Amino acid sequence: MLRILSGIQPTGTLHLGNYFGMMRPSIALQDEGDAYYFIADYHALTSVHDPDLLRANVRGVALDFIACGLDPRRCCFFRQSDIPAHVELAWLLSTVTPMGLLERAHSYKDKVARGLDASHGLFAYPVLMAADILLYDSALVPVGKDQKQHLEMTRDIAQKFNDRYGNTFRIPEPRIGEETAVVPGLDGQKMSKSYHNTIEIFAEEKVLKKKVMGLVTDSTPVEAPKPVENSTILALYRLVASAADVQQMEQEFMNGGVGYGDFKKRLFGAIWEYFAPQRTRRAELERNPDEIDRILADGAARARQVADVVIERAREAVGLR
Ligand code: AMP
Ligand code: TRP
Repeated sequence: MLRILSGIQPTGTLHLGNYFGMMRPSIALQDEGDAYYFIADYHALTSVHDPDLLRANVRGVALDFIACGLDPRRCCFFRQSDIPAHVELAWLLSTVTPMGLLERAHSYKDKVARGLDASHGLFAYPVLMAADILLYDSALVPVGKDQKQHLEMTRDIAQKFNDRYGNTFRIPEPRIGEETAVVPGLDGQKMSKSYHNTIEIFAEEKVLKKKVMGLVTDSTPVEAPKPVENSTILALYRLVASAADVQQMEQEFMNGGVGYGDFKKRLFGAIWEYFAPQRTRRAELERNPDEIDRILADGAARARQVADVVIERAREAVGLR
């Protein structure tokens, strides 16, 4: 059975980049193998320093993910910190990880440049991520393009461990969706919480509308034709509208005569409609708060069955048993 695994950090409200880059591909894969999806709360400690906020974020991500179609009966959905073996394996892996490998990581430099504390945890984060993946003998890891380097590091670390201790870990493959590799934000850069350019999946109607209307465009006058290439409006519209509606908008871009304001209104409408079923499901789930605890407890019990075997194999390999 194909083992699939991915994780998401509970660092805040989920946005369209998370949805199309990671959540939707993961949800689509849940029937194609034995899928494990987890909330990466150990990872989130590198940026969330308020314990109540972290707890609230974990619940929020769980609600969002299930509302978006993750089905805990068809995959194993759990919280990372329920399985402390992630941290133990990270230590074992850290002893085979060359410093140079970590020093080359883009995300550490990017995150420090954006103001995160330059802690050891942040620096060593790719090792914990490698542990997350290797602990489940994962074959396939669906993530957005920004995680590609982390996956390459995971493969390197696994190979180093296998070279030193004999064949212990399976080498995983990334799965990066072509069309949703990088979802642009309101300013055209990669959509990311730290760029303040996000469109949240579960924003209130008014808030969502205001955000979409604030999308940055060039200053082509209403009557003039508008560039189709590199248009953020079109890039987002392609994710949420039907092929016919997209074609229509592309045609109107090329013809001229319609202003960006109109296109943005249409984009807002399409986003709002796309997520309507998810909103309904989320509201239902919220009425039943114990359900999330039950789902995560059940997921942890199932995840532990796999993790216990692999961590034991790793301890054995290095001589701790
Ligand atoms: P983050 O919240 O940045 O830790 O991302 C969580 C997941 O969403 C990762 O798999 C990312 O690759 C994916 N992701 C985040 N932002 C984007 C984006 N703008 N486009 C595509 N995928 C994204
Ligand atoms: N690093 C990922 C992110 O920031 C989250 C993550 C942690 C992850 N561990 C993982 C993703 C293992 C896939 C597999 O989005």
